[in-house]
Amino acid sequence: MLLHIPEVLSKAEVAEIRQILDAEGWVDGLQTAGVQAAEIKRNRQLSVESPAFGPLSQRIAAALNRHPLFVAAALPKHILPPMFNRYEDGGEYGNHIDNAILTDRFTGQKIRTDVSTTVFLSEPEEYEGGILIAEDSYGAHEVKLAAGDAIVYPSTSLHRVEPVTRGVRVASFLWTQSLVRDAWQRAMLFDLDMTILKLRGQVGESAEVVALTGHYHKLLQQWAE
Ligand code: NI
Repeated sequence: MLLHIPEVLSKAEVAEIRQILDAEGWVDGLQTAGVQAAEIKRNRQLSVESPAFGPLSQRIAAALNRHPLFVAAALPKHILPPMFNRYEDGGEYGNHIDNAILTDRFTGQKIRTDVSTTVFLSEPEEYEGGILIAEDSYGAHEVKLAAGDAIVYPSTSLHRVEPVTRGVRVASFLWTQSLVRDAWQRAMLFDLDMTILKLRGQVGESAEVVALTGHYHKLLQQWAE
């Protein structure tokens, strides 16, 4: 399931974050690439040593944690500190699957990457190319969203970022360990959750809505770890 999460950040927040980011030092994205990624990754990242990194990273994580759609889709247990990347001058990231386990650099904790998220920090008209292409069982999906919006997809998806041929594409990217490891189970819970919300809007807190909500929580209780 690929899910578009609108307005994780307001336009004013994006502008403020971009102002800080644009003044920061960027390092070669290869510093965090594994052996396989090193051959296909051409971008830059905000140095984790930069004083701006911690506050900006926390800000992105907090915005996602406040967003009901992100919480419903990702069922976050642990969000790895969001990072920032920058593609320009033909920069790209070829087809790859993200590492299954990553270490939280602040706590040293090993985190299973269940859900990948990109928060767009450039408007689509600021650059050409730079489309995120993620594949699932229904084929390849092209993603290029408004600044402040995010896309969420299972970390097991094959994906790439096409070359940026004009302008600059800045984004934040992060991984989440979910309470529910299995992508299908997460997708089913999300669909049920959204259907219950709609039904509640239509008929109010009827006995059936209460019963379905109970089923949602029983399933979550079964599957959460
Ligand atoms: Ni990736």
